[in-house]
Amino acid sequence: MPLTVTTAPMTAADLEAVIGIEESSFEQPWSEQSFRTELVKNDLAYYLVARVGERVAGYGGIWVIINEAHLTTLAVERAFRRSGVATAMLQALIDKAVEKGARRITLEVRPSNLAARSLYEKFGFTARGVRKNYYIDEDGLIMYKSLTNRSRESDDEPAS
Ligand SMILES: CC(C)(COP(=O)(O)OP(=O)(O)OC[C@H]1O[C@@H](n2cnc3c(N)ncnc32)[C@H](O)[C@@H]1OP(=O)(O)O)[C@@H](O)C(=O)NCCC(=O)NCCS
Repeated sequence: MPLTVTTAPMTAADLEAVIGIEESSFEQPWSEQSFRTELVKNDLAYYLVARVGERVAGYGGIWVIINEAHLTTLAVERAFRRSGVATAMLQALIDKAVEKGARRITLEVRPSNLAARSLYEKFGFTARGVRKNYYIDEDGLIMYKSLTNRSRESDDEPAS
């Protein structure tokens, strides 16, 4: 059932909850220090958390480099999955990317991660190639979405 989800920029106060979700979501989780560095030192980065009531239910982030956004991470606490939390976060991240001038957004996903691939396809991302050995045990599927109204114009295509 859809929940009432709010999103807000991630702060250091969210990190304990974020790390808990990270460690239960990924086989090779980011460290708390990695998140701290992203929050404090990376001017290209934007991270948000999703809340259901007061509770952190998920988080995600982008880098925006000139006119291209890259989704760096996205995860939802298990108890809140399949309730629209990732949808709310991905829409908010895309809105932020557009606000920062991005004309396209890319990401890598495990080919075996059918839940995430389905989410991205729902948003109009399409598979555009494979990054060999991107994960320790799997290639990375590169997905792409134009953020302009014009679709498939060469100006909006990712650099190869
Ligand atoms: C992938 C993930 C972020 C989805 O989060 P979520 O909040 O459950 O997603 P939503 O509820 O917004 O679902 C939106 C759509 O995604 C797809 N989806 C989500 N979970 C799915 C699942 N288990 N199986 C198939 N499709 C799924 C569906 O198309 C869904 O739409 P629907 O519910 O109308 O069918 C979540 O499963 C997760 O945190 N996974 C572990 C971390 C991860 O893999 N992150 C992505 C790294 S690239």
